[in-house]
Amino acid sequence: MSKQNVTKYLLDISTFVGFLIVMDPRTSGLAIHEWLAVALGGAVLVHLLLNWNWIVEITKRLFTKGLNGTRANYILNWLLFIDGILIMLSGIMISEAVIPALGLTLPVNMVWRSLHDLSANISLILMGLHITQHWSWIVSTTKRLLGRGETKRTPALAMDDRQVKA
Ligand code: HEM
Ligand code: HEM
Repeated sequence: MSKQNVTKYLLDISTFVGFLIVMDPRTSGLAIHEWLAVALGGAVLVHLLLNWNWIVEITKRLFTKGLNGTRANYILNWLLFIDGILIMLSGIMISEAVIPALGLTLPVNMVWRSLHDLSANISLILMGLHITQHWSWIVSTTKRLLGRGETKRTPALAMDDRQVKA
């Protein structure tokens, strides 16, 4: 398996675990919630950089024929991205740990609180769909890492390695 796929896999799994912790601030405490969420923002940026070829390739081919399923996935990825921005922005606006630690104060407006709740709830649905979309990749990569996968590279997996899956 390519080194990049191992990197992607480890990053995806840790981001997912981080996401689960961040979804439950009452258990983790607010400070962990906020700092971990900021770190997750960084992890998602790396995730996007690792998938940059796909993003550029599909953007160029968006209006060509025969991209049906991929086009829906492309839109889903954008919705996820926009929702991620809304969560981070609203989180920063209601921050009680990160922003005060930076010596900053922001105007209080409870609309941000509602937006934070709403965008976090929407992210559960979008993340569920995103993971469903990549479920076979996750299962096959797990098997290969545990040494139980195919030794021969199937065309689908070889495509994954080249990052041009459509
Ligand atoms: C705002 C958050 C996120 C955005 C915008 C995003 C976007 C993307 C994009 C553009 C791709 C490549 C195109 C594709 O195949 O669909 C991708 C692939 C993938 N994403 Fe995400 N993603 C996000 C968060 C996550 C998280 C938290 C996980 C954790 C489970 C995850 C798991 C995957 C997997 C398993 C793949 C395929 C393998 C890989 O390339 O890493 N994504 N994502
Ligand atoms: C991946 C990003 C994030 C997710 C999924 C997320 C999710 C959540 C959830 C589910 C809640 C609980 C809402 C409720 O009790 O009804 C919450 C509360 C909160 N979040 Fe986030 N959040 C994220 C990022 C952030 C960031 C970056 C900050 C600040 C820097 C932040 C600050 C807060 C604060 C202050 C609360 C508590 C509000 C209160 O109890 O009054 N969040 N977040």
